[in-house]
Amino acid sequence: MNYKNILFEIENGLGRITVNRPSKLNALNKATIQELHEAFTAAEDDDKVKVIILTGTGEKAFVAGADISEFSEYSVEEGKELAARGHELLFNYVANFPKPVIAAVNGFALGGGLELAMAAHFRIASENAKMGLPEVSLGVIPGYGGTQRLPQLVGKGRAMEMIMTAGMIDANQALRYDLVNHVVTQEELLPFAEKLAGKIAKNSLVAVSAAIRAVNAAYETGVNGFEVEIEEFGNAFGTEDFSEGTSAFLNKRKADFPGR
Ligand code: COA
Repeated sequence: MNYKNILFEIENGLGRITVNRPSKLNALNKATIQELHEAFTAAEDDDKVKVIILTGTGEKAFVAGADISEFSEYSVEEGKELAARGHELLFNYVANFPKPVIAAVNGFALGGGLELAMAAHFRIASENAKMGLPEVSLGVIPGYGGTQRLPQLVGKGRAMEMIMTAGMIDANQALRYDLVNHVVTQEELLPFAEKLAGKIAKNSLVAVSAAIRAVNAAYETGVNGFEVEIEEFGNAFGTEDFSEGTSAFLNKRKADFPGR
């Protein structure tokens, strides 16, 4: 597959997806959202890909938002369609992705950019990263999950302040807010993300996938997360990974998970 707006590389079990529109600070136009969807679909289907790192090209931006030039003339109906398609193709897809997705936030993560980072399973930032939801400064509100995922991550009051002021926070404040798990230098960002990805990839990815479903269940309306956990826990006993993991432990050897 030839991508115009993103890069998709696979190496040592790692899928690296990079938004690649540096002249527009990696802003998400429709074509980029579609390509990201295709890359994630390819990563889901490819057994070689165990963990995904999502980042942006260059040293300035992760993603500086949805592409403002594309929607400035939209009608009410087109606005609704834009948000709904984005949720379906990318943001909800990433949030519920069956393989771990780590966002490596290497610069500006604004609007749709922060929403994309928040859809990932967790975030790491470089020291120069700046994050915010500036939509109300444009007369619109976050439309790719920001009003829901930001309060889940940082709490309602902080989310309200960030959304209402349209301001940016720096990487260290994002760390204090639990919006990112780690802050490292720009040079260390990808190696650090890869190290974490490597640690995850050593575990049973069948179990990791079940854990993603169980954790996400806590945020689904009308779903009892404890019940989902009990179900997923029980199902794990029927997997080959469980037989391998427990017998490796009992025989004092390293597990070699078949991934089934
Ligand atoms: N949509 C479309 N184009 C964008 C963009 C976006 N969200 N963010 C940046 N760009 C483009 C700029 O228009 C500019 O293009 P040009 O060179 O063709 O004029 C290019 O990226 C570089 O951005 P520029 O604004 O010149 O860089 P800067 O360093 O002065 O400022 C930002 C950086 C991130 C503060 C500024 O680009 C910005 O505020 N972007 C919009 C952020 C936003 O509101 N996002 C939410 C959208 S809902």
